[in-house]
Amino acid sequence: MRFFYFLLFLLLLSNCVADDPLWNVCNNNVVVGAKLSANIDHLLAELVSKTPEDGYVATSYGKGDKKVYGLAQCRGDVDKKDCTSCIQDAAKQIRDRCPTQDDARIWYDFCFLRYDTQDFIGQVDTAVSLFYINVENVTDPKTFNKKLGSLLDDVESEATNPVNKGLGKGETQLSSFITLYALAQCTRDLPPLSCAQCTAIAVGNFPTFCPDRKGCRALYSSCYVRYELYPFFFPLDQQNTSASTSVYKVLVKP
Ligand SMILES: *[C@@H]1O[C@H](CO)[C@@H](O)[C@H](O)[C@H]1NC(C)=O
Ligand SMILES: *[C@@H]1O[C@H](CO)[C@@H](O)[C@H](O)[C@H]1NC(C)=O
Repeated sequence: MRFFYFLLFLLLLSNCVADDPLWNVCNNNVVVGAKLSANIDHLLAELVSKTPEDGYVATSYGKGDKKVYGLAQCRGDVDKKDCTSCIQDAAKQIRDRCPTQDDARIWYDFCFLRYDTQDFIGQVDTAVSLFYINVENVTDPKTFNKKLGSLLDDVESEATNPVNKGLGKGETQLSSFITLYALAQCTRDLPPLSCAQCTAIAVGNFPTFCPDRKGCRALYSSCYVRYELYPFFFPLDQQNTSASTSVYKVLVKP
């Protein structure tokens, strides 16, 4: 079985150019010896092969101080094909980007992957975050923020309902021509209260980092929250995709 995973891993990662992530974090410089390195490879191979089935895997591999915990998850609205290629990219890029760390995390719009020699599964983590801020501002902040607030309330409570597997998404009309879209996704290892905690912190930071902005994306280890004035989640709303060429600036916190 072990050998099978290893072969599969090599097969999946050979000859492919992996897409750049939105962000990665490499913590805790260590000597990643042969044993730990092999365990990380094994874990990644398992995440790559098993995640697309249900969009989520949390597992561990190895023994003692060479044991490594891993979590991979696709956004709940993303199909199996996009999930597969996202997790493959993530597994390849995380090893390239974090070669000497035993706590590594990588974010894409469609998926998130993390491994650590410390057990992090089931624990909410909001210590590090990154915001993608749409450079454009809305013209009517008062109305916009009111509509945005109530839409985010809805998607947050949807995300914390266990039947939704950590995903909440929705839209609201700002006018007959303008629609606001929002999505919140928690990692599926979290209980509802922890999910709510993560999304509340993310949303609570929107006014600070994205005041009156046309779009914002918050990347945390335990959740992803985004809103835009164009459709960005599946099934894709076809009516107005023209605005999706927006320009963003990036802010890392802390
Ligand atoms: C949006 O507002 C911010 C803050 O007032 C300002 O710095 C920025 O230049 C504005 N963006 C555009 C595209 O005008
Ligand atoms: C799409 O947006 C444009 C301008 O933003 C608007 O004129 C048009 O009616 C919109 N189309 C639909 C189907 O909402």
